[in-house]
Amino acid sequence: MISQEHAIREKWNLRHADAEGPGQVAAVLVNNLYLLPSEGRALDLACGRGANALLLARSGLAVAAWDISDVAINALQATAEAQHLAIDVQVRDVLARPPEPESFDVILVSHFLERNLADSLVDALRPGGLLFYQTFAHSCLTGEGPKNPAFRLGRNELLALFSSLQLVYYRENEALGNIALGLRDLALFIGQKPATGKQAADVL
Ligand SMILES: C[S@@+](CC[C@H](N)C(=O)[O-])C[C@H]1O[C@@H](n2cnc3c(N)ncnc32)[C@H](O)[C@@H]1O
Repeated sequence: MISQEHAIREKWNLRHADAEGPGQVAAVLVNNLYLLPSEGRALDLACGRGANALLLARSGLAVAAWDISDVAINALQATAEAQHLAIDVQVRDVLARPPEPESFDVILVSHFLERNLADSLVDALRPGGLLFYQTFAHSCLTGEGPKNPAFRLGRNELLALFSSLQLVYYRENEALGNIALGLRDLALFIGQKPATGKQAADVL
């Protein structure tokens, strides 16, 4: 019998095999690069062919990039090598093996929605660490993204899922104003894990 993990891998392998290049960098990252720490460990979770992992590595962070698709991970490995960037790539089912507690200073999730992982992502941040999250919202003005509403965020859902983080940035425009402009159908969130008592005192 084919396992669910195998079926998901095969589905995504086909999509990645048909695609070219590392994909699109997430607006939540590229528009807020100045918020990144100057050093530390970053994770691109469900990285696909790794546009965000490459950008995080170029920003000076030690980057891990995980995806269930070996086709995507092999493509990212080849791009990273061609660009002389060291990225710790791994074929990994993040539902079966989420990141370990307090293991990353930055976690980036782009266009991947697994609500059950929210607590693990918060746990995996080190104190003071940042979560960058961007995925499709419930509004569907552009026709892009999943058709199944279960795979799209509800209104303000990232704020609820990550309410234990300090809010740094949030954007969800829906149909407001001139819909020919702006970032439509997406929710963008950045949150920070509160620093420990000692770290907070050190800053003062
Ligand atoms: C829509 S793509 C997004 C890729 C990338 N983050 C981006 O924004 O271009 C979703 C990715 O999630 C990966 N994925 C799906 N289920 C996964 C799982 N259980 N563990 C790890 N990766 C998974 C797929 O292989 C695919 O690369």
